[in-house]
Amino acid sequence: MKRLPIWMLGVAIAWSVSVKAQTDTKMNQFISELMGKMTIEEKIGQLNLVTGGEAVTGSVVSTGVEAKIKAGEIGGIFSMSSPAKIRAAQELAVKQSRLGIPIIFGMDVIHGYKTMFPIPLGLASTWDMGLIRESARIAAVEASADGLNWTFSPMVDISRDPRWGRISEGSGEDTYLSARIATEMVKGYQGDDLTAHNTLMACVKHFALYGAAEAGRDYHTTDMSLHRMYNEYFPPYKAAIDAGAGTVMTSFNDINGVPATANKWLMTDVLRNQWGFKGMVVTDYTAINELIDHGLGDLQTVSALALKAGVHMDMVGEGYLTTLKKSLDEGKVTQTEIDEACRLILETKYKLGLFDDPFRYCDEERAKNSILTPAHLAKAREIAGKSFVLLKNENNILPLKKNGTVALIGPLSNTRANMPGTWSVSADLENTPSLLEGMQAALGDNVKMVQHLGANLLSDAAYQERATMFGRTIPRDERPEAEIIAEALTVAESADVIVAALGESSEMSGESSSRTDLDIPDTQKRLLEALLKTGKPVVLVLFTGRPLTLTWEHGHVPAILNVWFGGTETGKAVADVLFGDVNPSGKLPATFPQNVGQIPLYYSAKNTGRPLAAGAWFEKFRSNYLDVTNEPLYPFGYGLSYTTFTYGDIQLDKNSMKADEKIIATVTVTNSGNYDGEEVVQLYIRDLVGSVTRPVKELKGFQKIFLKKGESRNVVFEIGIEDLKFYNNALEFVAEPGDFKLFIGTNSSDVKEADFLLR
Ligand code: BGC
Repeated sequence: MKRLPIWMLGVAIAWSVSVKAQTDTKMNQFISELMGKMTIEEKIGQLNLVTGGEAVTGSVVSTGVEAKIKAGEIGGIFSMSSPAKIRAAQELAVKQSRLGIPIIFGMDVIHGYKTMFPIPLGLASTWDMGLIRESARIAAVEASADGLNWTFSPMVDISRDPRWGRISEGSGEDTYLSARIATEMVKGYQGDDLTAHNTLMACVKHFALYGAAEAGRDYHTTDMSLHRMYNEYFPPYKAAIDAGAGTVMTSFNDINGVPATANKWLMTDVLRNQWGFKGMVVTDYTAINELIDHGLGDLQTVSALALKAGVHMDMVGEGYLTTLKKSLDEGKVTQTEIDEACRLILETKYKLGLFDDPFRYCDEERAKNSILTPAHLAKAREIAGKSFVLLKNENNILPLKKNGTVALIGPLSNTRANMPGTWSVSADLENTPSLLEGMQAALGDNVKMVQHLGANLLSDAAYQERATMFGRTIPRDERPEAEIIAEALTVAESADVIVAALGESSEMSGESSSRTDLDIPDTQKRLLEALLKTGKPVVLVLFTGRPLTLTWEHGHVPAILNVWFGGTETGKAVADVLFGDVNPSGKLPATFPQNVGQIPLYYSAKNTGRPLAAGAWFEKFRSNYLDVTNEPLYPFGYGLSYTTFTYGDIQLDKNSMKADEKIIATVTVTNSGNYDGEEVVQLYIRDLVGSVTRPVKELKGFQKIFLKKGESRNVVFEIGIEDLKFYNNALEFVAEPGDFKLFIGTNSSDVKEADFLLR
């Protein structure tokens, strides 16, 4: 590409700034004129967001929606889809309400719309920014074809506690990786033009710190130092906003004594004043009403608190709709505050082009032609295969040969409803192939497959019911466990290899699905023991929405492929990987602990004043445990391949740098095994001395490379001053001169090191 001369670049920037200014002026004039005609009730009506059809994401369902639309009491609807339904609702708004203001239509399009991609934790395991963006792009194409224009995604909450079920819905434990993914997701959804009929407005959530719920119990309290917030938890939200995310959703949790939804410091000082966010803020589901149980007052009081904090749209609870007028009359909120919220919501609609054409997303033809297309499904299969993480592969038992008989055993082996994973509200569960069906479709007649349930999901029927809500059923066999296992063993008898499809159901992670025991459930584990006793090769295909504690499995099962929940094409993608058409390349975005007692366990911890020597187990008066080492079972960034990659030593172009200089680090990576494959080369940095304590390692870069067997490549990283900065105790983003360590390797534990100085 030819470079523009610098003066032309200047002209181009000035031109685009002036175009933006003109658009803003036009928008402002339009909205001011419209607001001039609105009554106070109509303005408050715009702040009301209600559920459309069945509510599956919360326990309260909106009522009287039709009448409220006509009365101008609704600004947005979510969880309703199809061009016909959305057209009908939009017609009510446009033709039958006094001012004809169009409605915005949202939904939780989290990891795909109808074509489902892996759950976000799985997407993160690809470390493939291009594919992640493409998944969001496809989700936007499909959802917008079905009438929607707003998605409650990306969810960027950092979580270091796998007991929390919603760890499945984010990008894991790491600040840098999550921030990179947040950027891609926003760009994928929003594209270059929000008024285009195939883009969605993004909503970054849950602001903020929702993933740090105490004890991993959903909705629980968060109490966190500012230092940790700014350095570790805030950057992904900020990255999404810097990437242009149009809207923000508040979180449910308490933050240092003030719940996020009433937290003015968070919603106004940080979000608007420090980060420059200009869009609208929506609450989470009934989050204003929940401020009552948090202990902040009655509905009128908490609604006023939320508005004053800088929260504009009220999801489902109707606290705004029912109390704001009274609060205005009593002087508890101001006209300016209501106007500001109303203006920001109208701006959102304007930016989506809804005032030009309220029906631009309601095209039946497009819905028919652009959902679940072969191209989308092919991409879903590709991405699913790249999201799987090979945790163990003793004696290269994988890949399997494409012949003979495979016994597919386990409660996850033939369930369609559990394939898409949690947060797939738009998935067509009945028409998603099960693991068995997908594998059969991919393998054809080359491999004979036999299948058996093997065990219930959980021995406790009541627990299983809680773990299979929203139609994510798994058939139960009420016979005694021993009888079920014995029958499974007879099915497996004829097989050359056993593939055990075990783990969690899709609703064992996700919202309100916290667990305190992270083992593979009891009865499934006993099945696995019995399968291993047959002496046949056993491959564990693990379904999970979170890191599990797999210490026993790691010690006993020869091969473990963690497939998370891979979306619509899971079955085919599992066949691709097990039989070697695809070489696994996924890397963990969250640490797998040895046991629950180690949680929170994450690689970027602080050193403490009494660190344990590397490789040691126990030393008195050191920071460690009596009963387990400090090490994880599988570290962050870990994942095997069918081939091996060998790393040379790190070469630095210089050993010290000034603030305006860069250091170039080069490492030679060789594919030293027998298969072509992809590797994620990871760069970590440690700031050895600072005015505040710094983590022992922080991810600062990565490159996913493809190497043919025998091929070597120099992988080059450029380290600049921005990579060395952090928030000090005055919350200034600074780099402090001194010694640094740089690490490059295949995961966060297995690295080469080099030293350099910032002068
Ligand atoms: C969840 C949000 C979601 C909302 C709307 C809430 O329960 O916390 O993530 O966007 O429901 O469905």
